[in-house]
Amino acid sequence: KYEKLWLWFGAVCLVAFLSIVGVSAYAMGSHPPSHMETLDPKTATATAPFDKPGLFKKGNKEYEAVMLAQAFTFTPQKLQVPAGSTVTFKVTSTDVVHGFQIPATNVNMMITPGYVSTIKQTFTKPGKYLILCNEYCGAGHQVMAVTLEVT
Ligand code: CUA
Repeated sequence: KYEKLWLWFGAVCLVAFLSIVGVSAYAMGSHPPSHMETLDPKTATATAPFDKPGLFKKGNKEYEAVMLAQAFTFTPQKLQVPAGSTVTFKVTSTDVVHGFQIPATNVNMMITPGYVSTIKQTFTKPGKYLILCNEYCGAGHQVMAVTLEVT
């Protein structure tokens, strides 16, 4: 007797939840906070600040590395900082998902088009650090790496 009532109750709940999700996603623009367009559809180039990637000095031994991951390299391709420097990496992709890993450090990120991945790392030991892609991204994946030199 009550089964039909419960069935209706279930259906009404389902519709209610779905509309809450729908309204929050579309009407209120609820997206992950870092979502942004990283590829300008008009010029087919990266949007700021990724149109001018580079290593920027932010203070005493404080650097910001704005980097672009594209099949099959990272830009800039050479980075150099003095030992003891803290580097904030801000990385995005304009094509496919890439990886961003610096072996022997805690730096290991996934780089997704439309999102900016950020990580901070202090380099105390001088040497050459490899920044490599650890996410299969196509035919040139295995050569996708650049060097960070700590002097
Ligand atoms: Cu980029 Cu693998």
